[in-house]
This record gives sequence, structure tokens and C-alpha cells, in this order.
Amino acid sequence: MDIRDRIGLEHPVVQAGMGGGVAGGPLAGAVSAAGALGTVGIMAPARFAGALQDARRRAPGRPVAANLLAPFTRQAHVDACIELGAVLVVFHGGLPRRWLTRLQAAGLPVFATVGTAEEARAALAAGVDGLVVQGLEAGGHLVGVEPVAAALPRVLDVAGDAVPVMAAGGVADSADVRRLLGSGACAAVAGTRFLLTDESAAHAAYKERVLTAQSTMVTTLFGLGWPMRHRVAPNAATDRWCTRDELGPRWVRQVGRASAAAGRRLPLTALDPLTARQRVGIPLFSPALPLAGMPAESVDRTALYAGETLHRIDSVIPAGEAVAKLVP
Ligand SMILES: Cc1cc2nc3c(=O)[nH]c(=O)nc-3n(C[C@H](O)[C@H](O)[C@H](O)COP(=O)(O)O)c2cc1C
Repeated sequence: MDIRDRIGLEHPVVQAGMGGGVAGGPLAGAVSAAGALGTVGIMAPARFAGALQDARRRAPGRPVAANLLAPFTRQAHVDACIELGAVLVVFHGGLPRRWLTRLQAAGLPVFATVGTAEEARAALAAGVDGLVVQGLEAGGHLVGVEPVAAALPRVLDVAGDAVPVMAAGGVADSADVRRLLGSGACAAVAGTRFLLTDESAAHAAYKERVLTAQSTMVTTLFGLGWPMRHRVAPNAATDRWCTRDELGPRWVRQVGRASAAAGRRLPLTALDPLTARQRVGIPLFSPALPLAGMPAESVDRTALYAGETLHRIDSVIPAGEAVAKLVP
């Protein structure tokens, strides 16, 4: 059965599950209420469960999805997806087999985020129900290695008729969605467009920086505990540490790699005190992003995840309006 029919999705438009609190109940709920697929991003398990409930309350009778970052996923996240009625789960940054099996046993379709044909093959061999192909232009943590227009046909070749493929990266308006659907994607995924909405919990100063940024960059600077490449808008931290090499100083990358095991073990709540202590002059930056309620100065010492679409987005708008701009 077509995935949209299976989950009861009206429009082939998906809001990316942005972790760390940006995509909570208000954003995912508003997107789902507007007929697209709202997605709650990962955060500490109790908040994640509350956000899923909140999103579902805001969008009665509409599907709501969940996004899980593999290194930080716990049993409680998986239980919340099952018990609180997520219609679909997308994994990013890995595909833990035990969670895949458990979610599928409960009847939930599981999608894996991939950047290459090889990753697509591995995910299919593991038994996923669908793929999200991410292009290099995407904001946030990257598995994408080439533009989505190049990666999508390669991944579709591998997927064949076996599973549906969503496409992420560079989606700012309905023409982008139409292009991806025309190339064979079953839905288009947008992150930065939904970051820049009233309902996203990103700090207002973060939204402003993204709106006014002249460029984005791919770095590993904010890699303490999770050394995966990420696309960000520049700030004082990247100006200070990434001028010679966008990825950041070599020793900082080594610290990032060395801290990956600790990052997987620590609970997500450990991020808050760590992030509060970050300083521009000390390049030990966690993956946390600036949320509403944090001091405005945090925009210069935390990651401003954003994609290349920032050049084509000029205002913060209600999420329902963003859905209307994207629907083909
Ligand atoms: C602020 C932000 C946070 C993100 N967090 C996540 C996440 O937690 N999980 C995930 O799968 N992808 C995450 N992404 C990546 C998106 O899933 C998606 O690949 C990307 O946003 C698509 O590119 P776009 O931003 O140009 O639309 C994030 C992206 C942004 C901009």
C-alpha cells in the first residue's frame, strides 16, 4: 500500500524532526493540522513523550511522526512512539536493529536516513519500510554527500519498488516539492523552512541569524559527544575556529571523535549544563542549539543548524502558511 494511504497523509510534505526541542508539540501539531506530516524531534524521553502527546492533541485525527537520532535513542523513546501513536519513525545517524525490530513488531513503519546508494542498500538489508535520502545542501547533521538531485536517482535505483523514498535538502517552496516528486520521491522533507516558523522553539535570535546569513558551512565544530558533519549558519564560534578549515581545528575533531562513546552513554539531559558553560574562546561545543528561553548570547556559542534554502527564505511565518507554500 502507498505510504501516504497507510498513514493517512493528505499532502506529500514532511516537516523534518529537528532534535533538541526545536520540533516539539506546537510545530509538529501545527504542521499535521495543516495536512502535512508533523514530526517530533528527539529530546529527553519525558519531554519527547509530552511533545508527542501535545502534537497529537493539536492535530486531532491527523498523523504525527517521530524522529530518533540513533546514538541518543533509549527504550523510553521507542515506547513513547508506540504507546502515544506516532504513525511512522525516522532514524538518523544510524539504525539500531533492536529498535527497528521492536517498532516494526508494534506495526510502525520505520524509515532510515541515507546519503548514498551503499547506505540505502544496508538499510534495505536491515529491513526498513522506507528511506529518506538527504542531500548535501540540507541543514543539520549530514549523511548527505552530494546534492539531493544527484542522490535521489541513485537511491531510487536501489529501492526499486521495494520501499518508498522521501527526499530532504533544499526544499523551500512548492516548485522544489514538485521537482522531487517528479523525480520519484514519495514526499519532500523540509527542515530549515519549518525552523523559520512561529511554532518552532528555536530562539528568535537564531531565526534572525539564519534569515540574514550570507552563507552556510559544513563543520564538525559542534561535535562534542557526536562528531558527525553538520551544516550551520556562521556565528562567533565558527568565525573564531573555522577560518582555516571549515571542519574546525584538527585537535577539536580528535576530541569530538574521542567523546563519541561518552556522548552515546550520557542522557540527553546532561547536555543542558554542558551547553550553558560553553564559551566562544573554548572550542568544546556540544550539538545543542539555541532554544527560546536561553540567553540571546547563546546564538554565538551553540550550533545554528541551517540549510542552503536560507538564501530563498525571507521571513518567519506560521507553520500552516509554510505548509501552504510547500504543497504542490
Ligand atoms: C535545525 C535543524 C535540526 C535538525 N535536526 C535533525 C534531527 O534531529 N534528526 C534528523 O533526522 N534530521 C535533522 N535535521 C536534518 C533534516 O532532517 C533534513 O535533512 C534537513 O533539514 C533538510 O534540509 P533543509 O534544512 O534544507 O530543508 C535537522 C535540520 C535542521 C535545520
